[in-house]
Amino acid sequence: MKFRSRLVVNLNHLAYNYTQIKKMAPESSVLFMVKADGYGHGMIPIVRYAVTELGVKEFGCATISEALKLREELNDLEFDIYVFSDIQLELLENADIYLKRRIIPVISNVSELEYILHTDGFNYFPICLKFNTGMNRLGLDPSDAPLIVNMLKQHGRISVHHLIQHYANASYPMGSNERNISQRNRFIDIKKFFRDSGITLERTSQSNSGTIEQQIGFDDTHIRPGLMMYGPTSLLDDYKELGHFQGKVVSRLETYILRTFDVLAQTPIGYGSTPCPHDGVVAILAIGYGDGFSTRYGGAHLYHKGFEGVIIGRVNMDMIQVLFPVEARDHIKAHEIFTIWGEQEGDLLRFSMETKTIPYEVFCSLLPRIPRVYRLN
Ligand SMILES: Cc1ncc(COP(=O)(O)O)c(C=O)c1O
Repeated sequence: MKFRSRLVVNLNHLAYNYTQIKKMAPESSVLFMVKADGYGHGMIPIVRYAVTELGVKEFGCATISEALKLREELNDLEFDIYVFSDIQLELLENADIYLKRRIIPVISNVSELEYILHTDGFNYFPICLKFNTGMNRLGLDPSDAPLIVNMLKQHGRISVHHLIQHYANASYPMGSNERNISQRNRFIDIKKFFRDSGITLERTSQSNSGTIEQQIGFDDTHIRPGLMMYGPTSLLDDYKELGHFQGKVVSRLETYILRTFDVLAQTPIGYGSTPCPHDGVVAILAIGYGDGFSTRYGGAHLYHKGFEGVIIGRVNMDMIQVLFPVEARDHIKAHEIFTIWGEQEGDLLRFSMETKTIPYEVFCSLLPRIPRVYRLN
């Protein structure tokens, strides 16, 4: 056995998801969100594949260090990088990084814009502005649009490289949710105001996965898919029928069975001595919170060879205990590979719903102890 647990990433599925997105929005360019180590899938191999095999040219990170890692490790490839949240423009060394490594900070307040406009070296630097149209997180205040246009003009800037907004409720219907409608209309107004004021908008984008799934934002130059590139839908269960995307989950989380043993009802198991609710067979799996498998996953159901088991007792640092019914006894064996979630979207969604988490978090929680292994058919 060469591994304990591993995340098997199927790059063909990434290609499939990208193709589906391009079919939905053939005119839109994709700014692929690869925050948090490519949503847990390994940012470097994912971006290398996306650039070389899919022709994606723009990527979104959360932090300047993620962006720098991309530049340093993929310096043989041509692509643009945006830093969306943690831009730390006020630090001198970061300004140097943005300038020299061609990394674009997404500006979300007036003082950051002032900095860019007033600092030597940034004279021709692409300006990317993000407006707060109702998300109320980061973002420029729409009422500052006249001020911003004046600032740009005073510095001889007649174009904005990319104008952005982000939805707070993209998992809800775009056509009827009041907040979505309001955010959408605000963005229309902001774009119009800039254009009417003589500022060229080279790129605009508003849509992340839930929005793209509902085919909104395709009149902008760009879309910004994150989760859907990795397969799962980001629409809430009640609104799935509004989606036009059927992705393939790109990863499969595998572990293996360390040991199996029979138990009788009430046998205490593991830390805290949780009593088994019924007779059965316990499989000890080689995954725990030291791998990013949360203690909150206790009680979730897992499946092996058609049998349903339940994570019983506390999740340990390196192991979990799964109780299967007595009938599974002759089928579930030590050393077998055990799939926690497979490439069926249903597996991951069921697991995340049952554990009251979301696919984003399940993906991003996996720690480096889980090797990422890449497969191509
Ligand atoms: C500004 C912005 N755009 C796009 C995305 C991608 O979102 P999703 O993963 O829901 O597609 C994110 C996600 O963090 C984001 O912050």
